Amino acid sequence: MLQSTLELVSVVIVCLISQPHLLWSSESSPNPKSKQVWSTRVVNTKFGAARGLLFQPKGGYEGVEVFYGLPFASAPIGSLRLMPPVSGSPWSGTKMNTEPAPVCPQVLPNIDNETDALKVMPKGRLAQLKRLLPLLQNQSEDCLYLNVYVPLTGE
Ligand SMILES: *[C@@H]1O[C@H](CO)[C@@H](O)[C@H](O)[C@H]1NC(C)=O
Ligand SMILES: *[C@@H]1O[C@H](CO)[C@@H](O)[C@H](O)[C@H]1NC(C)=O
Repeated sequence: MLQSTLELVSVVIVCLISQPHLLWSSESSPNPKSKQVWSTRVVNTKFGAARGLLFQPKGGYEGVEVFYGLPFASAPIGSLRLMPPVSGSPWSGTKMNTEPAPVCPQVLPNIDNETDALKVMPKGRLAQLKRLLPLLQNQSEDCLYLNVYVPLTGE
């Protein structure tokens, strides 16, 4: 079970890296104010149970079950700051996160002035950054979390 979960996680991650269209644009990203639809299944991981949110991306893409903010290591804060990652601890109950966990601290490129931005990057990169930057605003040192996106077809 764990083995297949891990394989699934790596497949999904590879999928997201190789198919950036799967990262929703800000227009179609899940709106926290809209009605949330929870998956009927609970998935068990090595550290605890989680239930995903169901989303139907725009543009005819297949539906996705999204598990936000699953910790994959202990929070690198306090005495663990700047140390190699330490294995996570089990959580109790079922994780039902409605938004992604923060991303790690990073300096984001400034694309406010598109004319200036296009002097230092190609159009495609600018378009990609416009989609990505809204997802990278919430930053914290406590950032060792995965967001797992599972295609709903082919289960
Ligand atoms: C940032 O992430 C934390 C932890 O998930 C969450 O509680 C907080 O609401 C988020 N803040 C913003 C501005 O999205
Ligand atoms: C963007 O920067 C250029 C200078 O590189 C300036 O001429 C232009 O007015 C700026 N555009 C906006 C919308 O601020």
